[in-house]
Amino acid sequence: MELPPRPKLFDFHGVSMIHYFTDNWENIQNFQARPDDILIATYPKAGTTWVSYILDLLYFGQTAPERQASLPIYERVPFLESDFHILPPGTELADKLSTSPRLIKTHLPVQLVPKSFWEQNCRIVYMARNAKDNAVSYFHFDRMNQAHPEPGDWNNFLQRFMDGKMVFGSWYDHVTGWWEKKQTHSKILYLFYEDMVEDTGRELDRLCSFLGLSPSAEKKERVRRGAQFDTMKKNSMANYSTLPIMDFKISPFMRKGKVGDWKNHFTVAQSEQFDEDYKKKMKNTTLQFRTVV
Ligand code: PPS
Repeated sequence: MELPPRPKLFDFHGVSMIHYFTDNWENIQNFQARPDDILIATYPKAGTTWVSYILDLLYFGQTAPERQASLPIYERVPFLESDFHILPPGTELADKLSTSPRLIKTHLPVQLVPKSFWEQNCRIVYMARNAKDNAVSYFHFDRMNQAHPEPGDWNNFLQRFMDGKMVFGSWYDHVTGWWEKKQTHSKILYLFYEDMVEDTGRELDRLCSFLGLSPSAEKKERVRRGAQFDTMKKNSMANYSTLPIMDFKISPFMRKGKVGDWKNHFTVAQSEQFDEDYKKKMKNTTLQFRTVV
């Protein structure tokens, strides 16, 4: 397949973006959410696919086994703002979903989320990941994903990450923006990737309690096992291997799935500079992350 050239970043309402996520903007803004829709919101590479897959297994793992075998995760859980041309736009995929609830993925910063999600008072699961691991995962993703700008070398990429010049903008603004919103909006569950790695069962309980679900212990265990990194990595319906814009020879989508891989990438100097800048950027928030578990 002839791949299109890598897209360029531009400023979109104060957020760095690429055209694949703004081409369909009118339909995104006018998207009609339903009260039982569940929005999965994340900064890219924070564990979106993990949460999406867990939710899909919780709701539809047993009732629709054919779905598990034949529909890739990005069709089960449409990516709202995407318009990649090789697939129908996310808004269309979401409109066509026949499931109830509909599970919908977004990477939009909180201020750009279509207003119907707030009007319909939808449940939103936000997952955040510590900045250092998030940056490393994003770097490898941008290397292998033809639909994102070239990452350049690690040092330049890290500087761009710190400057917020990434697709979907600044990590700092994203995680704090959603954190602030959560303080006044009871229908947001704010999860941390590090907590999920530490104890998936515990976080699954939190998720179920937020969603008003009470699965049996067996079902919970089935979901936990099905969504383990190694199991998902082997599952072509969960590992993105069916998308031709990603080159797994460069780096797989399910890459390491660890907390602390940043230590294999940051030099001591980079880490110190990053930490100093981080303190300044995050000084006005109560949000705290762990970079090891
Ligand atoms: S995307 O493209 O934004 O939707 O990517 P996203 O799914 O948010 O993030 C991908 C990273 O999440 C890791 N991942 C997991 N970690 C642990 N357990 C499970 N089950 C799991 N599933 C996905 C995935 O490996 C990417 O992280 P890195 O650090 O690159 O491995």
